[in-house]
Amino acid sequence: METKLLTEKDIDTAAAILREGGLVGIPTETVYGLGANGLCPEAVARIFTAKGRPQDNPLILHIPEAEWLDRYCRNIPPAAYELAERCWPGPLTMVLPRRENVPDIVTAGLDTVGVRCPDHPVTLAAIRAAGVPVAAPSGNVSGRPSPTCAGHMWEDMAGKIDAILDGGPCGVGVESTIIDLTAPVPRLLRPGGLPLEELQKVLGEVAVDAALLRPLRAEERPMAPGMKYRHYAPKAPVTVVTGPGEASAAYICRRLTPRTGVICFTEYAPLFQSGTVRDIGGAGDQGVQARRVFDALRSFDSTGVTEIYAQCPSETGLGLAVANRLKKAAGFHVVEV
Ligand code: TXA
Ligand code: MG
Repeated sequence: METKLLTEKDIDTAAAILREGGLVGIPTETVYGLGANGLCPEAVARIFTAKGRPQDNPLILHIPEAEWLDRYCRNIPPAAYELAERCWPGPLTMVLPRRENVPDIVTAGLDTVGVRCPDHPVTLAAIRAAGVPVAAPSGNVSGRPSPTCAGHMWEDMAGKIDAILDGGPCGVGVESTIIDLTAPVPRLLRPGGLPLEELQKVLGEVAVDAALLRPLRAEERPMAPGMKYRHYAPKAPVTVVTGPGEASAAYICRRLTPRTGVICFTEYAPLFQSGTVRDIGGAGDQGVQARRVFDALRSFDSTGVTEIYAQCPSETGLGLAVANRLKKAAGFHVVEV
């Protein structure tokens, strides 16, 4: 299949492809998504094939405004509308009870559906023009780091999908925060572009799924099916080093060889005199770290590195999401210094 490269001038073309059951790489503020008509099971099935995604992993429906929530969800608590009012369009996915019109293949048979209104003018316009909700996982091949620019989408999906809509690099860089509003106490299923602290301001108590903090035991099941899969992983094994920046940098320096990959904060980059070094931003600048983390992980595959060490940000604000992505890329291989 020939994959068309579209720009913001081609919103109607993208909308027509979506309406007719095709696949389009769509820009969002978090990461690029692989979009299809969320009401058409055959179209949604193509997403799973293109990504090589396990069928038991549900997709998020993207809508252009909170008024559409009621079309696909029922028993919507007031908190959902309050969150939509404060945080949409934006990097927040809400899991709610689904209506019958949402195809089983979107929800992997669950009786809930994840819904989000992305903050990207090009994609919002394309969804409105298509007139249907757009089911979209992140646009990477299953297991790879999520795409944060059209070039990453191209690397993973050229030849497999109808089009990629280039909306520039993603402003947030990590996927949406997922909150399950069907539990008695709202539960964080995935830390992401909206800090947990913002959710707590609206919801008060928020439970945190164990899958975010440590590897699950064999008998445990994460609440978001996708969180059980190895994810975001470069080819070389990753070790995350937590602790104060000076200490983690020193730990990595002692292990440095010409074939080591390093993910580090700007302040410490000059210390690494050999290896392949990726600066993901200042130690305190978690917004920049979020924007760069997936590109850094992805970039090692075209180098000869045989192992990768990553400094880890503190787990506040966006740092919780950046640390989670690094730890997942490492298969939770974490060293504390
Ligand atoms: O920022 C994002 O959320 C991006 C952009 C494209 O919107 N999308 C994204 O989708 O990250 P994906 O499929 O890569 O990750 C969605 C996660 C998966 O871990 C999936 O298991 C979980 O959301 N999920 C989806 N629907 C769910 C549901 N009904 N209940 C629990 N978890 C759900
Ligand atoms: Mg994904």
